[in-house]
Amino acid sequence: MKILVKLGEIFGASRLIPIESVHVSGVSYKTLGEAPIDFLEALADADEKVSVEATLNPQSFDPEILAERLPKNLVEMQLKICEIFDRLGFQKSFTCTPYYIKRPSKGAHLAWAESSAVIYANSVLGAWTNREGGPSALAAAIIGKTPDCGIHKAENRKPKVAVEIGASLENEVDYGALGIFLGKILEDKIPLIKGLKNLSLEDLKQMGAALASAGMVNMFHYREGVEVKEELEKITVEPKDIKKTVAELTTTSTPKPDLVFVGCPHCSLREIKKIANAIGNRKVRSDIEFWICTSRPIKEKARAYVSKIEASGAKLLTDTCAVVTWTDKLGIKTIMTNSAKTAYYAPTLNKAETILAPLKECLKTALKE
Ligand code: F3S
Repeated sequence: MKILVKLGEIFGASRLIPIESVHVSGVSYKTLGEAPIDFLEALADADEKVSVEATLNPQSFDPEILAERLPKNLVEMQLKICEIFDRLGFQKSFTCTPYYIKRPSKGAHLAWAESSAVIYANSVLGAWTNREGGPSALAAAIIGKTPDCGIHKAENRKPKVAVEIGASLENEVDYGALGIFLGKILEDKIPLIKGLKNLSLEDLKQMGAALASAGMVNMFHYREGVEVKEELEKITVEPKDIKKTVAELTTTSTPKPDLVFVGCPHCSLREIKKIANAIGNRKVRSDIEFWICTSRPIKEKARAYVSKIEASGAKLLTDTCAVVTWTDKLGIKTIMTNSAKTAYYAPTLNKAETILAPLKECLKTALKE
């Protein structure tokens, strides 16, 4: 309660409001580190429990696929963290796309902490959430409330910048690159993006995840008919901006990556179906690993496609992703991905070189002809 009240005071809230759900990030031992474990443990020892629906971001490995390849001490620490979250009453969701498991209600207030999920919830699903930090989301899960500030208030959800898209966006990589390009310019300003045509929900997911990575943007408007009363600052995105951003997110000229990774943010059922069908009867090359990441419930639902994917030699991982696991300890030095967010983070978080390319090219690289 002290954490929530203090944050409310800092950000000018006059009250706490009830929330429908909480999503906590900082679950992977790799990103969480040592320091918060005692705090989490103290809460669990004090018998604290979550009071609302509460889900968790990916942890650092898939227990069935990666655990045995990682150093034992890291696996043990991760299991300890998961066990503490379990005692606190969190669902063992371990996904960054909790909205594929349960879609939040339209207009519901949430306290979510995964930036790609926050921006998707606000912009696409019509829920209302600030980008929480680990401790504030944890506190909100226990109390069931969050400070009434930021984009919990209608006046703070209005667009501040009008973005005209003067480039044709061909695939998920272009949408991700648009997100990275805009995120760097916008910082935390909410854009009204005009001229997005024929895009899928997954394209919006890629764009949002990238926007929230390169900037502090927690919401964007993209539908027709958004009411704008004040004069907005204007930005036009040109084809060269997208091209340059895609090129910059590839840091190596090596044609052969050690890992091809798809599923950042975690795949939807539709994406898994698309990947399985695109793989067909082809097999993964013996000198390349191919990971597809999703949540456990989506993998369950996708059973018919999972067997097809696994027959190719690709691995359908749950509970984790390439960014939050220790790829360097698995001997992975180069990662090819169709996710601009992964390409943006991998050089620092994975100490890896990157190749950003659309799914079609990722498959062409990973599979034998
Ligand atoms: Fe999710 Fe990992 Fe990407 S947590 S958003 S798949 S970096």
